[in-house]
Amino acid sequence: MRVVINKKPGGPPPKPSQRCDPIEIQTVPVPKPVKGTVLVKLRAAALNHRDVHIRERQYPAINFGSTLAADGAGDVVAVGEGFEESFVGRKVYINTSIGWEANPRTPEDPRNYGVLGLAPSPGTLAEYILVPRSIVFPLPDHLTYEEGAAIPLAGLVAWRALMTLGEAKKEDKVLIPGFGVGVALFALQFAVALGCEVWVTSGKDDKLTKAVELGAKGEVNYKNDDWVAELEKKSGANFDVVVDGSSGPNTRQFLRLIKGGGIISVYGAVAGSNVTITMPYVVGSVQIRGSTMGSNAEFGAMTRFIETTKLKPVISGVWDGLANAELVYQAMRSGEQFGKLVRIRHEDSRL
Ligand SMILES: NC(=O)c1ccc[n+]([C@@H]2O[C@H](COP(=O)([O-])OP(=O)(O)OC[C@H]3O[C@@H](n4cnc5c(N)ncnc54)[C@H](OP(=O)(O)O)[C@@H]3O)[C@@H](O)[C@H]2O)c1
Repeated sequence: MRVVINKKPGGPPPKPSQRCDPIEIQTVPVPKPVKGTVLVKLRAAALNHRDVHIRERQYPAINFGSTLAADGAGDVVAVGEGFEESFVGRKVYINTSIGWEANPRTPEDPRNYGVLGLAPSPGTLAEYILVPRSIVFPLPDHLTYEEGAAIPLAGLVAWRALMTLGEAKKEDKVLIPGFGVGVALFALQFAVALGCEVWVTSGKDDKLTKAVELGAKGEVNYKNDDWVAELEKKSGANFDVVVDGSSGPNTRQFLRLIKGGGIISVYGAVAGSNVTITMPYVVGSVQIRGSTMGSNAEFGAMTRFIETTKLKPVISGVWDGLANAELVYQAMRSGEQFGKLVRIRHEDSRL
């Protein structure tokens, strides 16, 4: 089978800011299912910023020769000993987290936790993937393979940040700062489908317009001079939950906007990683909760929600075939997309 891997570059090392390790298509044997695993023939894969950051070596332990990408959907073609044969032929999508069953706080044993798309875990830029049975979920009937592949990583991060740690409920007032095309887009869709009143900020007016089209009640451009006062005036503040990928100096501003006992659920830090804890957090009983990835139990709950609400992810582009993987990475790096970038491989596609 063909897989797309990251390669150690030859020549002198580039400056860290220019680093982007090359990728290559390799042919490797199709893995054989062993007890507890399932072999999935992949029909679609999608990228996240993490996949770009892996090629830029922004994480500490980058293994060359990794089969890349974490999001995927396809068909079960074989199951390991002891598992239900009836699962063969099922249309499925795959949780990106390996080794996190149901513990609401952290993976049960962090030493055995891994994420697809970086060795020793397998990746989805491949024709087949062998994964634990526990991370494979039936794809909701209303979704295509491409739509299924667009959901797992960003969808699950948004689900945990909004639902598990944010404890969002119907009619809650939810703020999503730095409305983006990955996690924040899913957070908006989930919160709207749940029946929350959602407000967003972004530095780009066209994204704010799209957020309102997707159901946000209102928006503010965070590049405006006093965006906090503007948002306070427009929305009436009193937010129950902030689902935040920005962090840094913004966290302090949320104090003006959040109600006592509110929750700031933080999954990223694009605006900075230094946060000042001030007394108003303490006396207002505001909770700041760090959120990352999610468990199989949460993936199952997210799947049931998607089934019930018939929610569909936003997809900005589809490329056909593994040979186009580099184009998808380039599109991801450009940051121009709105929605997920999906790489599909049809049955008859060739290099
Ligand atoms: N915890 C996890 O498991 C997990 C998983 C996935 C991602 N993440 C992290 O989450 C963050 C977002 O990832 P993503 O994939 O969702 O990216 P994304 O869709 O590109 O979102 C990033 C957003 O941040 C906004 N932003 C930039 N500077 C800002 C500022 N000063 N104030 C407010 N917003 C600002 C941008 O808004 P504009 O375009 O409007 O400027 C952009 O929409 C990253 O830090 C990523 O590493 C964490």
